[in-house]
Amino acid sequence: MRRREFIKKSAVVGVGAYTATKLGIPKLITRSGGKMASPVVISTWNYGMQANETAWKTLMGGANSLDAVEQGVRVIEDDPSIMSVGYGGLPDEETKVTLDASIMDWRGNCGGVGCLQNIKNPISVARKVMERTKHVLLVSEGAYSFALAHGFKPMDLLTDEARKRWLEWKENLSDKDNWLPPHDMNDLEDNHDTIGMLAMDLKGRISGAVTTSGLAWKIHGRVGDSPIIGAGLYVDGKVGAAASTGIGEANMRIVGSHLVVESMRSGMSPQEACEVAIKRAIEVHLKMIKADKSFQLAYIALNTKGEVGGAAIRKGFQYALRNDGTNKLYDSKYLYE
Ligand code: GLY
Repeated sequence: MRRREFIKKSAVVGVGAYTATKLGIPKLITRSGGKMASPVVISTWNYGMQANETAWKTLMGGANSLDAVEQGVRVIEDDPSIMSVGYGGLPDEETKVTLDASIMDWRGNCGGVGCLQNIKNPISVARKVMERTKHVLLVSEGAYSFALAHGFKPMDLLTDEARKRWLEWKENLSDKDNWLPPHDMNDLEDNHDTIGMLAMDLKGRISGAVTTSGLAWKIHGRVGDSPIIGAGLYVDGKVGAAASTGIGEANMRIVGSHLVVESMRSGMSPQEACEVAIKRAIEVHLKMIKADKSFQLAYIALNTKGEVGGAAIRKGFQYALRNDGTNKLYDSKYLYE
């Protein structure tokens, strides 16, 4: 393994001033500081492009950043071809599709659900936890009953394709079965992880959302970092926001998204702050990273100036950035080949 300095694939991206005429918005709204707010949406992985478009349209319709991130990530939850989020997500070892999600706004309001089954849009359940309870996190049967009580409709989230992948995994657990060729999860093009999305609206208000079906073939009951406020997601309206994707256990041990936001609070750029969290994760997990070449962890961040950053342990992580005029995929900086 070759350790290297963060490779400068993508610079910190500053977002230019938003102009009303270009986007057809009748009236510019200003931040409390008097500056024009330039909306920004950043999200993880290539499917973030699609999610960003929905979030952007939501923002341009005058909605706040909380609505934008919820609507944006729902598109990915609804898509059965994305096998690491929502409907069609790869199941746990018992063929149960269990979903984790969290949402947080600029005022510090937040909610999450863990190990939620049979509900397609955990992000919207997380928002209900935030808005309709005094709690932050509901899990498992409790989260499911809560969702039903709020009108969410139950459905089977296990698609035929996900069941087929589970069978391949199961059949290759034993060297005696030998029915199918070994299946390497890293060969799956769709073996992408969590969608995390951060957005700033026309008033400069930042929100974030994270949603995932978590690690494929996990032990039933496993909850990852995504619904854990501070680990999978953190927002401070006066500073910025961060979200993570990758091995949740590694992130939970360093409460990485909170670390990114606190690093920005101390004056770092979003890019520098993401790199701090990646370096911390490596300090804590170096042995595991060396042993497992697929060990990946990545962060995205956004500050109140509309600057963004992204960093990963390994090559391959991408994030999608939507701002005035463009929606573009960036190769993140990383530490290991
Ligand atoms: N980062 C998603 C998970 O570990 O479940």
